[in-house]
Amino acid sequence: MHSEDKVRIVEVGPRDGLQNESRHIRTDIKLELIERLERSGLTCIEATAFVSPKWVPQMVDHSEIMARLTRKPGVSYPVLVPNLKGLEAAIAGGASEVAVFAAASEAFSQRNINCSIAESLNRFAPIFDAARREGVSVRGYVSCVVGCPYEGPVSPQRVRDVAGALLDLGCHEVSLGDTIGVGTPASIVRMLEAVTGRVPMSRLAGHYHDTYGMAVANVHASYVSGMRTFDASVSGLGGCPYAAGASGNVATEDVVYLMQGLGADTGVDLDSLVETSGWISDALDRTPASRVARALLAKREKAGGLRGNQDLRPV
Ligand code: HMG
Ligand code: MG
Repeated sequence: MHSEDKVRIVEVGPRDGLQNESRHIRTDIKLELIERLERSGLTCIEATAFVSPKWVPQMVDHSEIMARLTRKPGVSYPVLVPNLKGLEAAIAGGASEVAVFAAASEAFSQRNINCSIAESLNRFAPIFDAARREGVSVRGYVSCVVGCPYEGPVSPQRVRDVAGALLDLGCHEVSLGDTIGVGTPASIVRMLEAVTGRVPMSRLAGHYHDTYGMAVANVHASYVSGMRTFDASVSGLGGCPYAAGASGNVATEDVVYLMQGLGADTGVDLDSLVETSGWISDALDRTPASRVARALLAKREKAGGLRGNQDLRPV
């Protein structure tokens, strides 16, 4: 254990977490979610996606989110952009960080963004030119880094090539998405070994969905391999509209609890985060997918709503 370790969490709840909800979610709720997440100490919160509302209806209020967002100093609010049209709208909305998203699987690329992997990289090139001119930083995603819902297993070399291409285009960081959550620590570490042959670990993030319950184990295996940035979604919300059956991201609460146990600092207040997990779950009429949130909320209820109980700390 290295007590000085810092782990950066990119909170993707307001975007990845909500994009797949079939029920309309009011913009007010999304904005309050972002504010609550900030209050718990998260400093990078993916706010929305400037994608086509025909493809992802839940993100239709992207411009309103950006217009009404109260930006806090020290907090960044990246947004997804699939093309130049999305970038221009994001910049008009005041975005200073955007994310492009590619895939390591041809079939997923076609279903998700209606073009091949090579076409997507060509489509991104002008985004980087314009972003550079406007002083906007660009993050990159690679989806299906272990498996694809249409093609099955994905080779680590494929992931390495796409991640390398995104780095060459100018991404400051590349997030590796196990979109359908089929990875295990063994396959994730094999994939990371291949990718780090091309992209340094310090420029990589893990983005693990939890469909098979492996996401926390995959975060831990990646941490042991040297990764220090993880995407996570409060309450384990999420899924991808173009990956049927995929569940949410690893829950932010679970990552914070894991890191506390490892002595790594995330800067996040677990009590406050768990409260937000309970709040958004109530708003969506469900129980939190996060085991940590369920355990801590149950303990809190038993203790009559008391907070700051020492029993709530990981051992
Ligand atoms: P297309 O149909 O090929 O695009 O879609 P097009 O250029 O032919 O345009 C079609 C229509 O969309 C036109 O409108 C455009 O104006 C409009 P119409 O003339 O028909 O009225 N349009 C847009 N509208 C708003 N914003 C835009 C935009 N661009 C075009 N930016 C496109 C191509 C990429 C637009 C579409 O496929 C799309 O929006 N896909 C997004 C899919 C998506 O958001 N998926 C989820 C996010 S990725 C993910 O979750 C994975 C991740 O979490 C990592 C992991 O887990 O692996 C990141
Ligand atoms: Mg995702």
